[in-house]
Amino acid sequence: MNLLIVYGTTEGQTRKVAERMATDIRGRGHLVELLDSAKFTPDLKLGHFDAFVIAASVHQEHHQEAVTTFVFAHRDLLSGKPSALVSVSLSAALEGHEAAARKYVDRFVSVTGWQPRMT
Ligand SMILES: Cc1cc2nc3c(=O)[nH]c(=O)nc-3n(C[C@H](O)[C@H](O)[C@H](O)COP(=O)(O)O)c2cc1C
Repeated sequence: MNLLIVYGTTEGQTRKVAERMATDIRGRGHLVELLDSAKFTPDLKLGHFDAFVIAASVHQEHHQEAVTTFVFAHRDLLSGKPSALVSVSLSAALEGHEAAARKYVDRFVSVTGWQPRMT
């Protein structure tokens, strides 16, 4: 399987998460391309990929705009293939703050119109 991971990061943590996912998935015998959403170029052929992981972190209750814009622009293609959203936030790591972490995910999904199979 040929998989694309697109990530947004402000302080570098989500890049580390994305790199770790790439290493693990490659270890299972798949091809993985890593793309920083801030460096997206239109010549990337998204149709070549079989599956997608989108990873973004939360700052002041919102994910990176570059990731939101990318997902909104490609929501139909992403929804038509296996895809997952990884939302990195302090709320996701803190016990008792799951509702806030879920709210960020729900809003991202609602705003972009993407239907990830997994969050
Ligand atoms: C200025 C700032 C604002 C943040 N706002 C939120 C927030 O609203 N909700 C939350 O759960 N985490 C928040 N966080 C925590 C980040 O989501 C967390 O540190 C994450 O690991 C950052 O990932 P990144 O390094 O990939 O950007 C914030 C962190 C910073 C520095």
